[in-house]
Amino acid sequence: MKDFYIIANLKMNKSIVESKIYLNLLKENIQNFNNKIVICPSSISLFYFANEIQGMKLGIQDIDHREQGQGTGSISASQVKDICEFAIVGHSERRQTFFENNKTISEKLQMLWKNNMTPIFCIGENQEVRNKGFKAIEKHINKQLRDSLFEDSKWENLLVAYEPIWAIGTGLSASPEQASEVISLIHETVKEISGGIDVPILYGGSVNEENHLDFQNEEKINGLLIGSACLDPITFSKIINNS
Ligand code: PGA
Repeated sequence: MKDFYIIANLKMNKSIVESKIYLNLLKENIQNFNNKIVICPSSISLFYFANEIQGMKLGIQDIDHREQGQGTGSISASQVKDICEFAIVGHSERRQTFFENNKTISEKLQMLWKNNMTPIFCIGENQEVRNKGFKAIEKHINKQLRDSLFEDSKWENLLVAYEPIWAIGTGLSASPEQASEVISLIHETVKEISGGIDVPILYGGSVNEENHLDFQNEEKINGLLIGSACLDPITFSKIINNS
């Protein structure tokens, strides 16, 4: 059976004390898991999670595109590589709020690979593009992939997350069919760029306790990137236990 990823993006939530309570409750309520569970807490809690996470994997929510040095407030891959296996890159909240573009994102991917980390590379269209129809979505997704990935990318260390912006944090998820349609396109495009290599493609955007299995049952979807529904450790433990 292929690996299925369940990734929690805790975003800008939880103090250090709250993070400790969160992780304790999560561990108490998880019965077992067959999937790869990755938790991406706020950077302030990474070190605590690293020591206590037990069997789950750790990811950072973003990294700087440079190696080290003059980057006030930033964290580089080389600083966290000892404790983090994964890093979210290109999340739409960073593209929008911090004006990150495909070129910077490509540099971040390179930096992660250089430090033996695995990017969770996020792409997805906004509502305006979705309204224009599938051809426009295809064009948008193609550009995001082709501007950041190249034939010599480190394909064995890559997860791509399809996160339609209109579905993030809105409670309005894509339907499993809508997600699968774009995810199939991503699989095909990745294979075209890589010369035949496929990578796991995840779905993210208002995944919750009620709908997560609908996505998991779709053949082309290899994992889930979950925001809001992870914030409550009991809810998140149910998703882990049921998946
Ligand atoms: P959401 O967030 O589950 O709250 O929609 C997902 C994400 O932004 O990764």
